[in-house]
Amino acid sequence: MNIVLMGCPGAGKGTQSAKLQEELKLKHISTGDVLRAEIASGSELGKKIAGIINAGNLVPDELMISMLENIVKSTDAGIIFDGFPRTVAQAEALNAMLKRFHREISAVIMINLPESEVVKRITSRRQCKKCGAIVHVDPAAPATVCPDCGGELYTRADDTAERAKHRLEVYHHDTLPVKTFYQNSGKYVEINGNQTPEKVFEDLVAVLKKVK
Ligand code: AP5
Ligand code: MG
Repeated sequence: MNIVLMGCPGAGKGTQSAKLQEELKLKHISTGDVLRAEIASGSELGKKIAGIINAGNLVPDELMISMLENIVKSTDAGIIFDGFPRTVAQAEALNAMLKRFHREISAVIMINLPESEVVKRITSRRQCKKCGAIVHVDPAAPATVCPDCGGELYTRADDTAERAKHRLEVYHHDTLPVKTFYQNSGKYVEINGNQTPEKVFEDLVAVLKKVK
């Protein structure tokens, strides 16, 4: 099973992918996490892309597509694609790539979230340096330690209110056309992301039960 999880910044793609990968034993590929790991490695490539990501802009398609292809060909497991495709060119490349590897997309699931919730969620998010967990904190007294593993929590450089708004604009301009790309594929489903994480997960699992 190969699932594309779509949704605006803060929709809950990472939160739900973590639960799904555990439940269905799938490989979770978050292109955002892949890029942040490249930056953390201190590589030349990481230095080049840091400015783009931290400003909330998209990394060029050719680079993203070749990075993704390297990961896809290294696994036989079913995949959750989180944050890819983000442009129509990436969606076309993903179809071609999966065909080459004799795979196909089982479902494209859009997690809907009202825009009024985005900045609130993004500015209350921390991520664990050690285990990668996504943690919601109280902005008045933010936790600094991961509740799962005790690792240090950090704030993503693109998680300010101003950059979250910019990422939302980029989402509208570049990524919403991907929704149109998939809408008539027979595999596109929308779910309500503005519920508790547990209820969103329940809805996701219900959708996936109908997919082979
Ligand atoms: P990426 O890391 O993918 O960021 P994003 O798409 O903006 O999405 P987020 O990770 O911010 O949100 P999410 O939906 O995962 O929400 P989460 O579960 O964390 O990409 C970052 C950057 O990398 C891009 O801007 C771009 O520069 C680059 N990039 C990545 N992929 C690329 C590509 N394909 N092409 C080009 N460039 C690319 O949840 C958010 C918060 O809400 C958390 O605090 C969480 O605890 C909380 N929360 C989650 N669910 C709920 C709920 N149901 N109720 C209440 N709170 C909730
Ligand atoms: Mg994410």
